[in-house]
Amino acid sequence: DFNKMDSSSRPKLYDFHGVAMTDIFTANWENVQNFQARPDDILIATYPKAGTTWVSQILDMLYFGQMSPERLKTLPIYERVPFLEMMIPNVVTGTDQADKLPTTPRLIKTHLPVQFVPKSFWEQNCRIIYVARNAKDNMVSYYHFDCMNLVQPAAGDWKSFFQRFMEGKVVFGSWYDHVNGWWKKKQTHSNIHYMFYEDMIEDTGREIDKLCNFVGLSPSVEEKEKVRSEVQFDSMKKNKMANYSTLPVMDFKVSPFMRKGKVGDWKNHFTVAQNEEFEEDYKRKMTDPTLQLRWEI
Ligand code: A3P
Repeated sequence: DFNKMDSSSRPKLYDFHGVAMTDIFTANWENVQNFQARPDDILIATYPKAGTTWVSQILDMLYFGQMSPERLKTLPIYERVPFLEMMIPNVVTGTDQADKLPTTPRLIKTHLPVQFVPKSFWEQNCRIIYVARNAKDNMVSYYHFDCMNLVQPAAGDWKSFFQRFMEGKVVFGSWYDHVNGWWKKKQTHSNIHYMFYEDMIEDTGREIDKLCNFVGLSPSVEEKEKVRSEVQFDSMKKNKMANYSTLPVMDFKVSPFMRKGKVGDWKNHFTVAQNEEFEEDYKRKMTDPTLQLRWEI
């Protein structure tokens, strides 16, 4: 019963093949690794809090908004776009949800680092959309998420979370390894479309165009404009089928899932000393000059 959960019943972080994880995302591992992808599946891959829900909603609207508008009005995003590796014992697994999806293509969400992606997705040459968000804003968003989500390890105070994030001791491990690993993979895999949260904030329409090109959709100007306007932060925040307000494991009194939706909110959290420490560490970990993330736009 999630209503009875408190910090003592929060899941524990542990080392899983070199990546910090919790049971919720490893208990169904056999089925995840043996998952049978179909060639037209679309995998939405992100580090947590990088804009997964945003891109999921965009793609779901682009594919099914015209054909089955009811779906968007009646099913929450986590049922329309199953979370592959998620398992709530005796309740639901992402693999079952994906297997039961009636739609074609299936849109499937994952936070797995690239080395953990089930091999079937590579064998089937599925299209994969990766979203990266600058590490500072990603960290801030993740901090608030771990405060409000009862099935995540407790965030602790900001100061300790800041350290843990840099050490990769958060669920799904190191942000640095995640974005670098996927970036490296993209260099040899044209089935990966690598995009940035900051670009989506800067020009959502342009990023929707790129997405359409990548997946081979050609919506009308009106359709595209409808999607663009309905996925603006304020609209999505109000949309019960996209804002996670229907999920009992999140405490919206602590903070809402759709929290701020901004680039640069880290400036309201990082002290000057923290920023210096962060930058020093960042330089050591981010050595590929071709991967550039923006701290502000
Ligand atoms: P903040 O906590 O900074 O507000 P994910 O879906 O990967 O969990 O990412 C959640 C983050 O994306 C949250 O960031 C959330 O507010 C933001 N987000 C979700 N929908 C958005 C939208 N339509 N526009 C801008 N940001 C959005």
